[in-house]
Amino acid sequence: MDFFTTFCCVKGSDRKKQGKKELTWRVFSLKELQLATNNFNYDNKLGEGGFGSVYWGQLWDGSQIAVKRLKSWSNKAEMEFSVEVEILARVRHKNLLTLRGYCAEGQERLIVYDYMINLSLLSHLHGPHSAECHLDWNRRMNIAVGAAEGIAYLHNYATPHIIHRDIKASNVLLDGDFQAQVADFGFAKFIPEGATHVTTRVKGTLGYLAPEYAMLGKASESCDVYSFGILLLELASGKKPLEKLSLRIKRSITDWALPLAREGKFNELVDLRLTGKYVEEELKRVVLVGLVCSHNQPEKRPTMLEVIELLKGDREKFAALEMHETFKSSPVLEENSDTTSDEKEPKQEIENVEVLTTGH
Ligand SMILES: Nc1ncnc2c1ncn2[C@@H]1O[C@H](COP(=O)(O)OP(=O)(O)OP(=O)(O)O)[C@@H](O)[C@H]1O
Ligand SMILES: [Mg+2]
Repeated sequence: MDFFTTFCCVKGSDRKKQGKKELTWRVFSLKELQLATNNFNYDNKLGEGGFGSVYWGQLWDGSQIAVKRLKSWSNKAEMEFSVEVEILARVRHKNLLTLRGYCAEGQERLIVYDYMINLSLLSHLHGPHSAECHLDWNRRMNIAVGAAEGIAYLHNYATPHIIHRDIKASNVLLDGDFQAQVADFGFAKFIPEGATHVTTRVKGTLGYLAPEYAMLGKASESCDVYSFGILLLELASGKKPLEKLSLRIKRSITDWALPLAREGKFNELVDLRLTGKYVEEELKRVVLVGLVCSHNQPEKRPTMLEVIELLKGDREKFAALEMHETFKSSPVLEENSDTTSDEKEPKQEIENVEVLTTGH
C-alpha cells in the first residue's frame, strides 16, 4: 500500500528533534499492545468513537499509552487509519496529540498515543468529571488559546495545509497540566496548494458542523473555525452544542448565546460551576470570538491566526470585533436576525446529515 511506503520513508529522516517535541514514533507488535492493555480488557477501556475503542495501557518502561483499536476492518477504515497515522507522523506541535506509533498485523489496526491523564474536555464539561469542576477560568482560557494554536498550526504551517474536520470537546485532550492537545486527525483532509476548499463527503459531529459544509460538502479551514467557535461557547458556558428543548426541538448553543451577548448579559452566559470566579473581560472575549467564529457565512468568520490574537487580547482587533454587525441589535440588524431565520434552513439541513456523521 502506498501509504506504508510514504510513511516508512518519513521515519528515518524525521527522527531528529523538531521544535519542542521529538519524533520518536515506532511500530508496535500486537503482542506488546496486548500485554500493555491486559489483552484489551474492558476495565482498560477509555471510551469508544467512530473508529473503534480506546484503551489505557502501560508499556514495559512504565509509560502510559492510549491505544485506539479499529473495530472492524474495511477499505474505508484502512484509509482512515492511514490518514490518521500519516498526518500525525508529519505534524508536531505542543498542542497536537503526539503519536507514539502504530501496529498493523493481519486485520488488526491500532494507533498508539501518549495517554492524556486529564482525559478530554468533554469529560470535564459534560462527563464523569463535570461535577468536580477542575476547569477554573484560567485553565479554560489556556485551553482555548492552546487548542487555537494547535489548529492554526494545521491550517498554516503544516505542509500541505490540513483541515481537521472534527473539532469538538472529545477531541481536545488535556495533559497533566491541563494543556490542550488536539486529537483525531482520522477525518482530516490535506488542502492542495492554491485550493480554497475541497469538496468532500460530509463527516464530523452534529452541533459542530458549519452549514456550508453540512449542505454542500465544502470543506475549508473556515469549517474548523466554525466548530472551534462552538467549542469556545461550550467552554465558557458549560452547555452542550445542541440542547434538547423537547422531544423534537433542539436549540443550538449559538441561538441561545447570541441574544444574550447582544444584550451584554455575559453573566447569564457563563458556566455556573465557576461560581462567579472568572475574568469578565476575558469571558466577553471568548463569547464574542466564539460567536463570530460560528457565523453562518464563512466569509464573516476570522482565521485561526486572528482568533489567537483576539483571544490573547489584541485591543484593536477586539474593538473592531465588538463593532461587528453580528452583535448589534439595531433595526438594520433585526433584518439581519431575519437572515438568521433564513439561516435556520442550513441548521435544518444539518439535522439531515445525521446519518453521515459519527452520531455523537
Ligand atoms: N490519548 C488519549 N488519552 C486519554 N483519553 C483518550 C485518548 N484518546 C482518546 N481518548 C478518549 O477515548 C474516548 C474515545 O475516543 P475516540 O476518539 O475514539 O472517540 P470520540 O472522540 O468520542 O469520537 P470520534 O470518533 O468522533 O473522535 C474519548 O472519550 C476520548 O477523549
Ligand atoms: Mg476522538
